[in-house]
Formats: sequence, structure tokens, C-alpha cells
Amino acid sequence: MIKIDKKIKNVVARDKKTIMTIAREPYPLVVAKGSGDYVWDVSGNRFIDFTSFIGVYTLGVNANAEIRKAIKAQVDKMMHPAFLDFYSELPVKFAEDILEMMPNGFGKVFFSNSGAEAIEDAIKVSREATKKSYAIAFYNAFHGRTMGALGLTAAKISQRERFGPFPNVVHAPFPDPYRPPFGHADPDESAMACIEHIEKKILKEEYSKKEVASIFIEPVQGEGGYIIPPKLFVKELRRVANENNILLVSDEIQAGYMRTGKFLAMDNFGVTADIYTMAKALGGGLPLAVTIAKSSLPDMPPGAHGGTYGGNHVAVAAGIASLSYVKRNKRNLERMVKEKNRIIMKRLNQLKDRYEIVGDVRGLGLMTAAEFVKSKKTKEPAVKERAKILQECFSNGLMLLGCGVSTIRLIPPITMSKDSIEKGLDVFEDAIRKVNR
Ligand SMILES: Cc1ncc(COP(=O)(O)O)c(C=O)c1O
Repeated sequence: MIKIDKKIKNVVARDKKTIMTIAREPYPLVVAKGSGDYVWDVSGNRFIDFTSFIGVYTLGVNANAEIRKAIKAQVDKMMHPAFLDFYSELPVKFAEDILEMMPNGFGKVFFSNSGAEAIEDAIKVSREATKKSYAIAFYNAFHGRTMGALGLTAAKISQRERFGPFPNVVHAPFPDPYRPPFGHADPDESAMACIEHIEKKILKEEYSKKEVASIFIEPVQGEGGYIIPPKLFVKELRRVANENNILLVSDEIQAGYMRTGKFLAMDNFGVTADIYTMAKALGGGLPLAVTIAKSSLPDMPPGAHGGTYGGNHVAVAAGIASLSYVKRNKRNLERMVKEKNRIIMKRLNQLKDRYEIVGDVRGLGLMTAAEFVKSKKTKEPAVKERAKILQECFSNGLMLLGCGVSTIRLIPPITMSKDSIEKGLDVFEDAIRKVNR
């Protein structure tokens, strides 16, 4: 049982005094060090990591030895190439490496430092390419917190209120299979109702195809609650985009980079987007993001976009080492994701059968989650209960993150041992059992 001692309290108190508002989990994890499956806090308590530190440590906590070695070596050579103004081979090599992972026809990469920045670039690229200004995004979507990205985000009112007006965005319903926006129990009917809303409402009554530049989608909605849309929905979005000269943007910042068992989460749906964004796992722990566009899309004029740190050598060295590991071990990583998905989903389904407060469980690859409700019948979100479960797990050495209104996501590093996964799931079940009473 973890005790919240003086060391932990001290950091938390100083943080509250000095750090600008950040949303934190309802438990005081004060990170000190990490490796493989585990994290240690300042007081030496050990935790199993079911968060990958918000989806970053896909290849193990604090990255793997190869990535760390590449980072250290690069620090001694040259850290910042001012890639905005000067040429440098390392970012070019990384662009080439990542393009090799993309479907045919992708030719241009933009480097930035965070998911939100990658989204900002995607907004600009789609506007420049189509000479149109509106974007369609989805309710419950999270694309980041800078002003353009926040315009697309519609997951929580607390993230948006006070900050508008935003750039031109219209939000459409997302076919959440557990909470279908139009009430259809059949996922495909629900998907088609959402598509109809875009075609018959938005494009006919609000903004015509002459105005809509892009549709932004997370192949699996992340911060909004780990919601997996029906395949049909994503396929139909592609059709709508094609028919209306709209660019489809796949935000793979959380779902991409092997998290769902495929390099691109979009590939689970058999659809190719026109623009992809990636960040989080890409840099193995360092700030690194990319926007990748089809070669057929026009470039912006020089100076129209950029950032001082894009292409930073240390971040890119980490990206190259991480991607090289992924390429060499792709089959193995795919197998690991499948195997661990099976272990987690089996247990999650048992939890759903056993406990009234587990309303829904879902997962694509190692993006897995359980949604908590006050009763299975009413589906009323069990917000306080979720907080108690998170606290209880923390007290027993398991790190978890919430998402959506009352969901908990389970996203261990892909490399986590089966034993640690089982141990973590035991802690999770104990906490649910206690709170369910
Ligand atoms: C799907 C998605 N898009 C964009 C972002 C924003 O990324 P960042 O926090 O690096 O700006 C996130 C972050 O959680 C995300 O999950």
C-alpha cells in the first residue's frame, strides 16, 4: 500500500504554487525514474505503468537502450540545427525513414514538437491545398489545445470555454457504439446516420463543399474516451471526402505508431487519408511531431509556416532510433499487440460480466478501456467511482489514466511482460470490486 509521505507532499505543494493550471489525475504520482514496465516515485514506490506516459513510451518506460544511446550520442555532436533556415541530413533521413512506412503517394513531412503543432500544420496544408477554410471535426474529438487545434477539439467544455472564437470548424456526431448519437443499436446504421448528418445537414444546410477543406478524424478517439468507430463510418467518410474535394486528415497522434497493432491506425479501417499527424510515441520520450502529406498536395510558399525547433537533432535522433527498432521488430510488435489485446480484453469482458459499474469495455490493439456507469441500464456516467478506482489502483502500485467522462484507458507499453499485465489487471479488478460494493 503506497503511503503519501512528506517527500510526495512537498513536491505537490511546490507544484501547486508555481505551475500554471494543468489537469492532473486524482492521485499524486511524483515521477522520479522509470524503466521497462515500471516507474518509481520520489519515495521509491514502484508502479506498473498502464499509461505509457500518455501514449509516449510505446517501447517501454523511458524508451529502450537503443533510443537512449542515440539521444546521448547526438547531444555531444550537435543538438539544434536551426532546420528552419539551414539544411541538415538527420531530419531529411528521418523524413525518408518515415515515408517508407507510409502508403504510396506520400512525399512531404513537416517537423514540429507536439501533437497540437502537427495539427496546426495540417489545418494550414489543407487550407492551402484546397483554397477553402472550413474543417469538419467530431464531437468528443481531441486534437490539442493550441487555438487552431482547440477549434477542432470538442471533448470537454472546460478545454474550450473562455477561449473562442476559433478558426472555422463545424462539429459532427461520432458513431460511438456504446452511446450512439442517434440511438441506433446497430453500429452500421449508426455510422450511416452520422454520415447522413454530414452530407444532408452540414454540407447542404451549413457549409457547402466549396467551403469545407478538411475532415479531421482520430481513427480511435483518444482523450474523448477510447471510442472505436465502425469500419463503415471511416470508409464512408473517405467517400464523402472524395466526392466533395475535401481532404481527410487522420490524427494518429495517440492511435498511431503501432499502438493499435498497425503503424497507422487508419489501416485498421482499410482507408488511406490525405494527411497524417503523429507525435507522442514518435520521439520515444522527446518532443517530436510530424505532419505527413500526399505528394500531390501543393507545398506552402517559403516562410508561410515553420518553427524554430522543428527537426531538432536530438529529438530526430531519438525518432530515427525508435523507428529503426520498429522496422526491425514490426512482426514481433504486431504479435505482441495482438497477444496482449487478447489478455486484456478477456479480463475486461469478465469485469463487465461481474460488476454492475463496468458499463462497456472496448479495445483496438493496445488501446483498451473500460467505461464506468452507475448502472448498466441507465448508463449514467460513474465519475466519482472512476476517481476512486484510479486512486485505489495508485495506492496498490498501478498507474492508470482516465479519458472521456467516466472511462479508464489501459495502455501499457507494447513491450510490457505478460506477467506485469496480469498483475496490473489483478490490481484493477481488486479496485473495481471494492468500489462496486
Ligand atoms: C489524438 C490527439 N491529437 C492531438 C493531441 C495533442 O498533442 P499534444 O499534447 O502533444 O499537443 C493529443 C494529445 O493527447 C491527441 O491524443
